[in-house]
Amino acid sequence: MGLCKKLLIGDGITALITLILCLSLGLTVVSRNITSTFFSRCEKFNEYDCKKVWDAFQQAYVNKDPCKVPVEAYDPLIAAAPFKPQCNRMMFWSKTKDVVHGFTEKRDCFVTLEDTLLGSVLDGLTWCGKEGSKDTNTTGCPGWSDCENNTVRSFWIRASAAFADVACGNVTAMLNGSINTPFNPTSIFASVEVPRFIASRVKNLNVVMVIQKNNISNCTDPSLKNLRQSIDTGITFSCKDVSESRIQECGSKPEIACGACW
Ligand SMILES: *[C@@H]1O[C@H](CO)[C@@H](O)[C@H](O)[C@H]1NC(C)=O
Ligand SMILES: *[C@@H]1O[C@H](CO)[C@@H](O)[C@H](O)[C@H]1NC(C)=O
Ligand SMILES: *[C@@H]1O[C@H](CO)[C@@H](O)[C@H](O)[C@H]1NC(C)=O
Ligand SMILES: *[C@@H]1O[C@H](CO)[C@@H](O)[C@H](O)[C@H]1NC(C)=O
Ligand SMILES: *[C@@H]1O[C@H](CO)[C@@H](O)[C@H](O)[C@H]1NC(C)=O
Ligand SMILES: *[C@@H]1O[C@H](CO)[C@@H](O)[C@H](O)[C@H]1NC(C)=O
Repeated sequence: MGLCKKLLIGDGITALITLILCLSLGLTVVSRNITSTFFSRCEKFNEYDCKKVWDAFQQAYVNKDPCKVPVEAYDPLIAAAPFKPQCNRMMFWSKTKDVVHGFTEKRDCFVTLEDTLLGSVLDGLTWCGKEGSKDTNTTGCPGWSDCENNTVRSFWIRASAAFADVACGNVTAMLNGSINTPFNPTSIFASVEVPRFIASRVKNLNVVMVIQKNNISNCTDPSLKNLRQSIDTGITFSCKDVSESRIQECGSKPEIACGACW
């Protein structure tokens, strides 16, 4: 936009052409919509048919009231792009999104939901349909807690459930030591993911408690006892307090082995 402003301080026909050019550029940016984001992110994964996945995605919410999209509406989408088990590498998180992804982006140690096809194509996006319309809206959609069966929330619940269903081996979860209840019963981690960890697939649940400067809790927090008690017997539980700086250090130093980060 800085360039456009500069070029507009010209005169006559040049200014007019520049104006048209800049306007159309602006419009392209605005209409760079969910479709193109979806496909450009999807095409980074070779093993999926993106058109098929897009169609399965659309059938979940198009032509529906955005507050009447139940979790099951996304079943065909999950079937079109199933999650693959990645034993010993699966990472779950609750209230630690930025730190987790800062780490997984730099090091190929763990896989979060947002590193999978479905999680990555829809990460950070908002979408919903409208009764009597075949369009996808990306503005004016209901917020996370505005209604139970809302388009975006139902997707994340369904995808989290499917991701947790394939968890296996050593499973890791990053929780937040700067909040009062690191293991919050209302979180997706507690209500959707943990109940799906079954001892026949999952050997260990290893919690990494991220300790920042403003830490107010740690692995001794009572909510962690609740977590230990709520997991399937047969899954070994562990929790380790790890400073945010150590996680960042491990992210930027490939010479530190994944298993030696904490
Ligand atoms: C949300 O969807 C579920 C499952 O389809 C249904 O049982 C429930 O009543 C719905 N909730 C609301 C508030 O409509
Ligand atoms: C933990 O939660 C606090 C409060 O919401 C937030 O400011 C902080 O960034 C979170 N920490 C991590 C590691 O994400
Ligand atoms: C998108 O949502 C806005 C705000 O609710 C509404 O005015 C508009 O008609 C919607 N567009 C479509 C295509 O549904
Ligand atoms: C699982 O993690 C534990 C410690 O958290 C480690 O002792 C064990 O070797 C790991 N097992 C595998 C298969 O990675
Ligand atoms: C916060 O972290 C510091 C440094 O690790 C530690 O000494 C302190 O006990 C921690 N406080 C809580 C409430 O965990
Ligand atoms: C853990 O937190 C408790 C209080 O919440 C605090 O007394 C203790 O020092 C903390 N332990 C560590 C290792 O930070």
